[in-house]
Amino acid sequence: MTVPEPSVSSPTSPLDVAAIRAQFPALHQQVHGKPLVYLDNAATTQKPQVVINTLRHYYERDNANVHRGVHVLSERATAAFEQARRTVQRFLNARSEREIIFTRNATESINLVARAWGDWQLTPGDEVLITAMEHHSNIVPWQQACARTGAVLKVAPIDDRGDVIMEDFAKLLTAKTKMLAVVHLSNALGTINPVEEMVAQARRVGATVLIDGSQAAYHMAVDVQALDPDFYVFTGHKVYGPTGIGVLYGRESMLSAMPPFLGGGDMISSVTFEKTEWNELPYKFEAGTPNIADAIALGAAIEFVWGVGFEAIGAHEARLLAYATAQLSAVPGLTIIGTARRKASVVSFVLDDLHPHDIGTIVDREGVAIRTGHHCAQPVMDRYGVPATARASLAMYNTKEEIDALVAALGRVRALLG
Ligand code: ALA
Repeated sequence: MTVPEPSVSSPTSPLDVAAIRAQFPALHQQVHGKPLVYLDNAATTQKPQVVINTLRHYYERDNANVHRGVHVLSERATAAFEQARRTVQRFLNARSEREIIFTRNATESINLVARAWGDWQLTPGDEVLITAMEHHSNIVPWQQACARTGAVLKVAPIDDRGDVIMEDFAKLLTAKTKMLAVVHLSNALGTINPVEEMVAQARRVGATVLIDGSQAAYHMAVDVQALDPDFYVFTGHKVYGPTGIGVLYGRESMLSAMPPFLGGGDMISSVTFEKTEWNELPYKFEAGTPNIADAIALGAAIEFVWGVGFEAIGAHEARLLAYATAQLSAVPGLTIIGTARRKASVVSFVLDDLHPHDIGTIVDREGVAIRTGHHCAQPVMDRYGVPATARASLAMYNTKEEIDALVAALGRVRALLG
């Protein structure tokens, strides 16, 4: 089986996919003697050359600690790091760069809130509301916060399609709800939640809101002023940026009042053995030397995404999703898990009673990379009564030919496993 590189974009494609693919060196390789078909973008996206070059340039020319030196390299590193923060501010349409905290990843951002906000605000009997489609990152920190504070975790159920049952959600949201923590776009199902409506309902009961945008941030433009959550988190490596860099957006009034998470250098304005004063925002939440290089490269990744444009990305991925859904649905014995009304280009599926790990291993031999397992969302698997799914997740550089390659590889699975 060979997968031809798309040489020209189709007349109906809003993107010049060939030109985009040319900027991603990792896509141009063979695995097991077959051209790589990378369909595991919900786990992490590949990196464009500009991101790789930015990392290299930083370490070759500008490497120094930030906010600490008066020498040229430190000034350059600080300027690039703070420029990246302003890029993230514009990416989320936050009001101020003081609202942008750099973390390691989305998981750390949620843990920061669950610790700093949770330990400060939650009291026995308070409720934290999540949904049944959350990633473990938006379940476990809240379970831990509830265990520390005596608060109670509530879970809004989902229906067979993978949509939150909004009648149940509304009933669960009460004056006791102190925090609504909800995923914007499900990594396991592809569901795009109606977060605008959810935030509006949470406001009516006075709940604080955190949105986990780990998956949403590479598929769609996010506007925190329009959505109006108190916190919004995402991770760099899914937005075509490096691993090890994440973002916490927090409303400035909330971050100002909230106690810090980690203590150490840079998060203080003065320290004596008797008393420590906190630094101003955002540094109050950035203890220790930050991940300078990866923050700067995240800025480059965002500039790259802007260069392509979310409108074009969204239209291309919607076409791919429609094509993948049609082609995979036609595979005998294949059932798609997650058919929400609003869905992104994530297709989870099971194939009769074949174990997804066997499917993943065989399609890998055909050069096709998909993720198999519970996708760090075990309660979603429980909801559908499956131990695991296979998942193809599509990004701006994927093509219909690659979906055809997946379908052909599934034919090979059938031939081998029956
Ligand atoms: N949470 C990531 C995924 O869905 C790693 O694959």
